[in-house]
Amino acid sequence: MLPTPKLAHIPGPPAPPMIGHTLQIVRDPYGTQAQFIDRFGPVYKTHMLGRWRVNLCGPDAMEFVLLNRDGIFSNAGGWDALQRLFPGGLLLQDGEIHRKSRRIMTEAFRAGALRDYRRRMGDAVDTLLAGWPARQPFGFYDAIKDLTLRMGGAVFMGLPLDGALARHLNRAIRAEIRATVTPIRLPLPFTPMWRGVRGRRFLRETFRSLIDERRATGGEDFFSRMCLARDEEGAGWDEEELLDQFNLLIMAAHDTTATTLTAMVWALAAHPEWQARVAAEVSERDPARCDVDLAEMTDTALVFREALRLVAPVPFIPRLATEPFRWRGLHIPAGTSISLNPGFTMLSEDLYTDPQRFDPERFAPGRAEDRRHKFAWTPFGGGAHKCLGMHFAETQVKLFLAALLRRYRVSLVDAADPGWQRMPIPRPRGGLPVVLEPRLGTLRRAVKHAAG
Ligand code: HEM
Repeated sequence: MLPTPKLAHIPGPPAPPMIGHTLQIVRDPYGTQAQFIDRFGPVYKTHMLGRWRVNLCGPDAMEFVLLNRDGIFSNAGGWDALQRLFPGGLLLQDGEIHRKSRRIMTEAFRAGALRDYRRRMGDAVDTLLAGWPARQPFGFYDAIKDLTLRMGGAVFMGLPLDGALARHLNRAIRAEIRATVTPIRLPLPFTPMWRGVRGRRFLRETFRSLIDERRATGGEDFFSRMCLARDEEGAGWDEEELLDQFNLLIMAAHDTTATTLTAMVWALAAHPEWQARVAAEVSERDPARCDVDLAEMTDTALVFREALRLVAPVPFIPRLATEPFRWRGLHIPAGTSISLNPGFTMLSEDLYTDPQRFDPERFAPGRAEDRRHKFAWTPFGGGAHKCLGMHFAETQVKLFLAALLRRYRVSLVDAADPGWQRMPIPRPRGGLPVVLEPRLGTLRRAVKHAAG
């Protein structure tokens, strides 16, 4: 146990009793940050959720902390709020045990595996999209959260789409994910944390009962691959480790991808010229076919990068300093909770031209604004804990957008942009109501189908 760090010498605003700056930060994290950086500079402390945290702002700080060359920054200590629900997951591991688990997990992300996931995703997206309403407003954010979760049953767990077990498991996952952001951290009866802990128990016991069969027969889904995954020396996970890692994986994949797709659809609906470009790209090639090279979908990739810059699904990355260190002339003691700010940094004028503008071309080879600093574009973090699902997420996004835009033109119900709530998890205010207008080809197919 590290001693409580003495932070009196670190600049920062006085903290209101009990709640500190929590409400102010939750209400407007980026505005608050801009204000505090102006007043105190790029290293300042805030009091959030019952503890002082030192904010290290900007890309240099991200490079220093995430590369963690001296091994002094702990993920387990940084993400301790997730400890009750996701103990033993990669994100909450440090040092050698993390390196070992990550080597095993990497097996489940190999190219061959990604091809199989892609096939499963393609089938599931088609089926699920068919249930979306055309020509009437609906909230895109809730719909995409539901779609990605249901698709997860097939791709992550190898279960039939929308079967009874998949539905039960998805309810448990929802409860677990909701519990990650609830302010009451104790599992008092009937609170979200209580439901989350019960959800975790149900997931573990269900998956425990599937391990033997999956180890015997294998399968094309994540869970089956993780059951069989081994590092180069042949080491795999025992049952408890496997369950912990799988549980974390589902959580890490879900909200992040749903947020990214929401940000992309929001941007494409507001910028019809870009929607037309992406629609043209996917009308020429169907990414659900495994012989289609996803790297050729360059316009979609530009929009993906820009949406992640504007709306970072993980706007803050926490760490715990296990040793003292110096940063920008200040002594930061061991035991300090550190907060990094990729979301705010990616909106910085020092790194990006006109940073609030949706301008995917800023990533095109001629401009490459993200090359202005090694850590200028960091939605997936960096260093030893850099997101393992980055390519998987891009594949999923490309498949979904292609399936959507080959069928429909998307427009916003409300042209006035209500903006984004950034914390605890980014979500569009108002849920992003949209309307889907069938494209001509879709109508022709529907008429043919009706005529038998
Ligand atoms: C666009 C979507 C996604 C974003 C923006 C995102 C972002 C991140 C970030 C920032 C981290 C690092 C956190 C830290 O350093 O503390 C991370 C870690 C991780 N992500 Fe993602 N993620 C996304 C999708 C996914 C998906 C789809 C999967 C799985 C299929 C996944 C699996 C993981 C795992 C396992 C880790 C932990 C890696 C480690 O600690 O070694 N992520 N993600």
